[in-house]
Amino acid sequence: MKPRILLIGSTGQVGHELAGILPRVGEVIVPDRSAFDLMRPSDLTRLIQHVHPRMIVNAAAYTAVDLAEKEPDKARAINTEAPAVMAAEAEKLNALLVHYSTDYVFDGSKESPYAEDDPTHPLNVYGRTKLDGEIAIRNSGCEHLILRTAWVYATRGKNFLLTILRLASQREELRIVSDQLGAPTWAREIARATASMLERYAAVAAGDSPATGTFHVTAGGTTNWHAFASAILEEAAKLPGANPWLNAALSGGSIITRRVTPIMTADYPTPARRPPYSVLSNQRLAATYRLQLPEWRDQLKAALASA
Ligand SMILES: NC(=O)c1ccc[n+]([C@@H]2O[C@H](COP(=O)([O-])OP(=O)(O)OC[C@H]3O[C@@H](n4cnc5c(N)ncnc54)[C@H](OP(=O)(O)O)[C@@H]3O)[C@@H](O)[C@H]2O)c1
Repeated sequence: MKPRILLIGSTGQVGHELAGILPRVGEVIVPDRSAFDLMRPSDLTRLIQHVHPRMIVNAAAYTAVDLAEKEPDKARAINTEAPAVMAAEAEKLNALLVHYSTDYVFDGSKESPYAEDDPTHPLNVYGRTKLDGEIAIRNSGCEHLILRTAWVYATRGKNFLLTILRLASQREELRIVSDQLGAPTWAREIARATASMLERYAAVAAGDSPATGTFHVTAGGTTNWHAFASAILEEAAKLPGANPWLNAALSGGSIITRRVTPIMTADYPTPARRPPYSVLSNQRLAATYRLQLPEWRDQLKAALASA
């Protein structure tokens, strides 16, 4: 029998892709957003007990990294306290909790890809609240998959890809930081990897112990925001001019940007500090689940082609 999956956060970048792909794995229940708010733990308890899922997939989060510095209580309620409630309920039901976390649990002082068990040290409120969410899940004793990803974008929602395209229709020069390294990851690839992991998990015979715990799930390769912005403009320029998605992303205009200038993080102060290096090693995912996400540039091309 297919497992019942409760999907929380289905309107987000990753959640939207999960809603499309998880039916491959099980019977997906997507609660009406108006019926629950992660700021209210009792909503969550009631929802989980009512659905009685075999798997809870939590793609919801407070993801406004800079605003979190001003709203630490809200970020903590959504990123730490709500996952703690999900974990407690999962433990009671003997359900698997799938939860997403972030490269921002690290401070970026390392110079080679971070492994899952490298020491954490978040530099901002968002990273701190996400790390505390991870800790609450581990401490609950529930069976879990914590999937840390990074630099997430999609062809909808709020993200760097759409911001760059909007600005490209407004400015001749874009000034973008080039001293933060990471791996831009398409939400659809995160959803695909999740579905593959859950299929494997569901197929494991009772009594065996499938691999759970924490995994890094990011695109292959490494880049910086400046190079990513340049790649976005190069790849967008190859799309047919009549592409309705591109037209909307450019707010009906065309690309007028002539120069993408690299700048330093120090030249672009933001309320939240970001790690200078947040490349995650995906070796555990490859060794355990035989999964490897495509290179970041190939993901970008595929995302634009899908739009
Ligand atoms: N975005 C990134 O660059 C990035 C990087 C690393 C890791 N991650 C992690 O990846 C996961 C998915 O991120 P994403 O970018 O897909 O997120 P997103 O697009 O910002 O979507 C967030 C989701 O959370 C829901 N949500 C927020 N507050 C809620 C509340 N009070 N009650 C119920 N639902 C609420 C939103 O629903 P409404 O819109 O209806 O409120 C939305 O469905 C998160 O765990 C995030 O921390 C993201």
